[in-house]
Amino acid sequence: MIAEISGATRAEWTSRNANAEAVTLNMPPDKSILHRLLIIGSLTRSLIIIPLPPMESIAHDVLATVIALQSLGVSIEFFDDRIELQGGGLHGLRASGHQIHCANSGTTARLLMGVLAGQRFSTTLTGDESLSSRPMQRLARILNQMGANIQTSSAGTLPARIEGATLHAATIELPVASAQMKTAVLLAGMFAAGTTTVREPFQSRDHTERMLSAFGAEISGEDEISIEGLTGFNLDERIVYNVAGDISSATFMIGAGILCGKTTRIDNILLNPTRMRFLEVLSLMGVAMLAENVVEEWGESRGSLTVFSPGATPLRPFHVLQEDIPDLIDELPMLAILGAFADGESTIEGAEELRHKESDRLAMLAKNLSNFGVTVMEATGGLNILGAPDRMLRGGIVEHGGDHRIAMAFVVAALRAKDLVSISGAEVAQVSYPEFFDHLRRMAGEDAVKLTH
Ligand code: S3P
Repeated sequence: MIAEISGATRAEWTSRNANAEAVTLNMPPDKSILHRLLIIGSLTRSLIIIPLPPMESIAHDVLATVIALQSLGVSIEFFDDRIELQGGGLHGLRASGHQIHCANSGTTARLLMGVLAGQRFSTTLTGDESLSSRPMQRLARILNQMGANIQTSSAGTLPARIEGATLHAATIELPVASAQMKTAVLLAGMFAAGTTTVREPFQSRDHTERMLSAFGAEISGEDEISIEGLTGFNLDERIVYNVAGDISSATFMIGAGILCGKTTRIDNILLNPTRMRFLEVLSLMGVAMLAENVVEEWGESRGSLTVFSPGATPLRPFHVLQEDIPDLIDELPMLAILGAFADGESTIEGAEELRHKESDRLAMLAKNLSNFGVTVMEATGGLNILGAPDRMLRGGIVEHGGDHRIAMAFVVAALRAKDLVSISGAEVAQVSYPEFFDHLRRMAGEDAVKLTH
């Protein structure tokens, strides 16, 4: 699929949308929570009912987890309005008859590694080209400290062979703040007798801790999290788990609203404190917002979020530091784009982890920003971006290297380009946000976005 985006100046967008109503959107279910619910739910003995929007809006990454679990013997059925998963208990997984293909999904691969390490059977995990170039050995080494037997390729990547083993509890110091690695350790810790403790340099998203605790596991701590080896969960036979909308996907429409002068309202959006840093940075940049109707269920908060158009007020530049990174890791591509339209120089520091995502995101951001005419300096762990509120980007081609978030961020940036911007392989957005282009059309108008198959 090829997408072509026609941009306009800030003044044109502002006058076009000055009196426009807010656009109200619903995001796909939060990917991080849904992966965890499917995996942890499989290990309970409960029927888990997950009310959902239409199947077409579910991130492809999540489908990789569904298919993997089905091949491990878990019953997961899709209906028009829900998923039903029947957990088979802590020891209910069965050997898959084939290698498990995790597609593009790092979360699928890393979380499953934690669970599979403690099984009585062996499994091989593979992935697509992008996932097969991402680091897996650092997690394998950590799990091996707990008695696991995991071998990666000689390059430290997938395929990974996980021989089932008897795990023992351990105290693990993560080399980087990573929710995927932390979760893998906690999931492995459920299969190890005794107390497993995991520490990370900065706190990363805490959905696993919240879910395990809500499901009755013995888990405690914030900076240092400890879990007891489990004999089972303490959960009703049948539960309903409403997954809030994905705040990381919402980032792109919030960014689009800011660039084209529209107020964006997102209903039923996840409002977990470890995922809010992007909104906090936006508010420091001068963007006004409001969260309403906040409810809490299964330890997670959700509500309606309105992000107001800054109108003619220029954005202030931002400065994000290493300690901010874990809580806005997936939002950095969109934030970097907004930096290009801020009034001064914005900086990102301590973000080396961005080089290990679906692409080397620091390099991809620097390359595309400079192709589109933005002055940007790339350092080992960050970027300096010289912003200008009224700038028009040059047009051209977005290079995304198969990375969904880079692709979406630059499609949004193109709303402020003076010449046409085109992007091939635009369907990559489906990895996390299948309705991305529909929603973008609602924000920017049908004429701004042309799609050809
Ligand atoms: C995720 C954690 C983050 C994030 C990814 C989802 C998760 O990765 O980038 O999109 O669901 O745990 P890291 O833990 O590798 O930083």
